[in-house]
Amino acid sequence: MIRIKVPATTANMGPGFDAIGMALNLYNEIEIDTIDEGVQVVWDNPELELPLEQNMVYTSMLHAFEKYDFKCKGIKIRIKSCNIPLSRGLGSSASSIVAGIVGANEIMGKVMSCDDIVDMATELEGHPDNVVPAITGGMVVSIYDGGKVTYSKVDVPKEIRFAVMIPGFKVSTEKARGVMPESYGKSDCVYNISRVAMLVNAMNKGELDKLRVCFEDKIHQPYRKNLITGMDEIFEEAKKLGSIGEFISGSGSTLIAVVKTDNEGFESSMRKYLAEIDGNWEIKMLETD
Ligand code: HSE
Repeated sequence: MIRIKVPATTANMGPGFDAIGMALNLYNEIEIDTIDEGVQVVWDNPELELPLEQNMVYTSMLHAFEKYDFKCKGIKIRIKSCNIPLSRGLGSSASSIVAGIVGANEIMGKVMSCDDIVDMATELEGHPDNVVPAITGGMVVSIYDGGKVTYSKVDVPKEIRFAVMIPGFKVSTEKARGVMPESYGKSDCVYNISRVAMLVNAMNKGELDKLRVCFEDKIHQPYRKNLITGMDEIFEEAKKLGSIGEFISGSGSTLIAVVKTDNEGFESSMRKYLAEIDGNWEIKMLETD
């Protein structure tokens, strides 16, 4: 029996569109076994059940078997816990892709290296910023132009944690990518390049006082905020309550505020504020995995 636990991930972290991502301590758990023939999928929560062809754990396993020309007699997949919400910008599809490839690699006798898994998962997802931290853990910066992925881990200061605010509504990544322009002006590029470089350096050096400016972005958030009702007001409230930066998690709909560990009142005050907007927002205080 192969047991796989994959973390949720938050991509972009403001300016790092398709380049930066971070694993969070919220997990899906999957068990995989070989059987004599056929495919069996067991969902511990039947409400989440998907048809086989949409089950990315299964389709990613098949992809890995095909690529390595491996004949597997039969597979049993158990989706044991599914804590990463779907279509909320927390890397649920990345978690399934990673689980499928890692599971297939175990069955094939570990023929793939960690970098092979990173490359295949990125090829399947189309961008590296969820799958890479889901594999490596922590915060990661990745470069991907369609070939091999180059990635490097970034230190996350112990003094911060992440207020992950998850709404009841979903945003599809396809739609959220579709609202972005095809090209950008020089000043917007400089705005993001300077912030993403500063974000990595300030995180590595623990320069918390520099972080606020680092999470700002002109590449995706200005275009996506119309898909997330109340985003500006929620960010404004988080700032009032002492957060040191705010950003959309991946392509949304989840919003994240970066909070110092000693800001003990943040969670309850923010929960109260979100409940006043509507009853469908959930808040989880998470750390990097
Ligand atoms: N970087 C991707 C995007 C992440 O923002 O579209 C999607 O989860």
